[in-house]
Amino acid sequence: TQAQTWSQRFEKALHPAIATFNASIGFDIELIEYDLTGSVAHAKMLVKTGIISPEEGEALVNGLETIREEYRQGQFNPGVDAEDIHFAVERRLTEIAGDVGKKLHTGRSRNDQVGTDTRLYLKDQIQQIRTQILEFQGVLLDLATNHVHTLIPGYTHLQRAQPLSLAHHLLAYVEMAHRDWERLGEVYQRVNTSPLGCGALAGTTFPIDRHYSAELLGFDRVYANSLDGVSDRDWAIEFLSASSLILVHLSRLSEEIIFWASQEFGFITLTDSCSTGSSIMPQKKNPDVPELVRGKTGRVFGHLQGLLVLMKGLPLAYNKDLQEDKEALFDAVKTVKGCLEAMTILLSQGMEFRPQRLAEAVAEDFSNATDVADYLATKGVPFREAYNLVGKVVRTCLESGKLLKDLTLDEWKSLHPEFDVDIYDAIAPLQVVAARNSYGGTGFEQVKSALQNARDRWEAA
Ligand code: ARG
Repeated sequence: TQAQTWSQRFEKALHPAIATFNASIGFDIELIEYDLTGSVAHAKMLVKTGIISPEEGEALVNGLETIREEYRQGQFNPGVDAEDIHFAVERRLTEIAGDVGKKLHTGRSRNDQVGTDTRLYLKDQIQQIRTQILEFQGVLLDLATNHVHTLIPGYTHLQRAQPLSLAHHLLAYVEMAHRDWERLGEVYQRVNTSPLGCGALAGTTFPIDRHYSAELLGFDRVYANSLDGVSDRDWAIEFLSASSLILVHLSRLSEEIIFWASQEFGFITLTDSCSTGSSIMPQKKNPDVPELVRGKTGRVFGHLQGLLVLMKGLPLAYNKDLQEDKEALFDAVKTVKGCLEAMTILLSQGMEFRPQRLAEAVAEDFSNATDVADYLATKGVPFREAYNLVGKVVRTCLESGKLLKDLTLDEWKSLHPEFDVDIYDAIAPLQVVAARNSYGGTGFEQVKSALQNARDRWEAA
């Protein structure tokens, strides 16, 4: 009897602790459906090329589909002794189909097999994540549609800068989400390359047809070099990089939501369905969702860094180190999906903007100071001169506890003869926003057309 899965070269069983240390079945069971699908395609290719008979091929495919059924019914639960999902499936196949099961591994290796499985898995996941990004964008677009004329302070350095249409602020995140969606589509194209048939590293002596199995599995192309095919993980790193950017964007939005919800800002209220209380302070309502998203962002960055470091010193071709790519990918996928879902729910039903509070905020600051300078510049005063003069006005106002809108016409005129009564309109928050009508700016006309463009693009996606 054989001590374990490998050849008769081995006489003794693995040390139990080493068996556990070595095994990936605890996590690569996640790949089972892809492993079965990959093996079905491989078996069909073996038939097509005459390497095995049609009857043998049929027995293999039926056996693999039986395992799929068993798994779906919770009846396939391989243990550590199986080492990994590939051995687990082959062993079960041989139990079900008999000796013919031992023919499945003709002309392939676990190295090209695991690469195939992982890419099939990621292709599915990328499509799901792209759909989630579109849902997230849809919620942002609806919010923006409702808030074209709602104003919100705009900041640079977290200091009040110039007021904005709230829709404009939200549309900035729509743009980021669109790039994320686009970027994942580009990553998908490179994930969509088949390593199946690269063998352990050097190809195979059998007359296989790699293009055929690739086509059956929906791959666009095959790896041109067998060494590269089994040891390339660029596509996984690209995915983790694209995922990291998704989370950068979600985390920035989370950060804003967290301070918008604070008493100091008070721009939104959190609804009960998405916030939590404190075990001791009865008045608390905490923004746990955006905080968790902000926190989970670090995990995905970590996986990206982890895989980069894992790869940098690896000689060609397969090394067991590569088994470590899976948990990174699985956790990143789970984290990105979880964060997108939570943020979509949070935006659609977890928070409400407070228009009254926002209107007060933009009316009570100096974020219209640029408009005073622009006013004078329009009347022929060189901008820098106007800018200096307004700086002085702001300082005087701060000293006397006034806002720009509180200055009397006489006061304005004494500051500069070009000031007239229309200065009051020019510095009213709605006008300040409306006036920024340059392409891509926050002026309402711009925002309406940006919203329409974003909506059209979203519908076409
Ligand atoms: N469980 C392995 C992995 O995840 C499969 C490939 C193993 N290949 C090998 N030559 N040990 O990478």
